Amino acid sequence: MEHIYKQCQAIIDPSLPWISNVSNILAILYHEIPNLNWVGLYFADPYQQICFLGPFQGKVACTKIPYGKGVVGTCAMKKTKIIVKDVHDFPGHIACDCASRSEIVLPLYKGENLIGLLDIDSPLLDRFQEADEIILQKTADLISEQLSRADCLW
Ligand code: SME
Repeated sequence: MEHIYKQCQAIIDPSLPWISNVSNILAILYHEIPNLNWVGLYFADPYQQICFLGPFQGKVACTKIPYGKGVVGTCAMKKTKIIVKDVHDFPGHIACDCASRSEIVLPLYKGENLIGLLDIDSPLLDRFQEADEIILQKTADLISEQLSRADCLW
């Protein structure tokens, strides 16, 4: 997994807009980490209390998730990483792709403000282990740095 994080670091070109760098990071995660079926961002809108779909790799996904709903909305509300070993055991899980069986969602920050969420789905039960978490947290930090460069995300 460390080599995947290194690829994400290496693809960042500071002369490019954040969207170019983040799009490539998401492509690296989706294609290099085994057994994933969706990798993408939701942006957090604290005024409307809604998370809405950002750049991603995978099938068409839900566009708006209210704070407190699903894994993404719960992460936005609690502002803490959530790992779901079996999505069928998570009350209110939103199934964008019925192939998904486990999921990890990590908050993205600009300073102390929540600005988005990195959402990753797997068709395998209990796919995300401690080693994955560590690398995905470092990668989420890279994405946060890129998003933080923007004066306005949408
Ligand atoms: N499963 C998420 C919805 C987003 S999709 O996984 C892309 C949830 O329960 O919030």
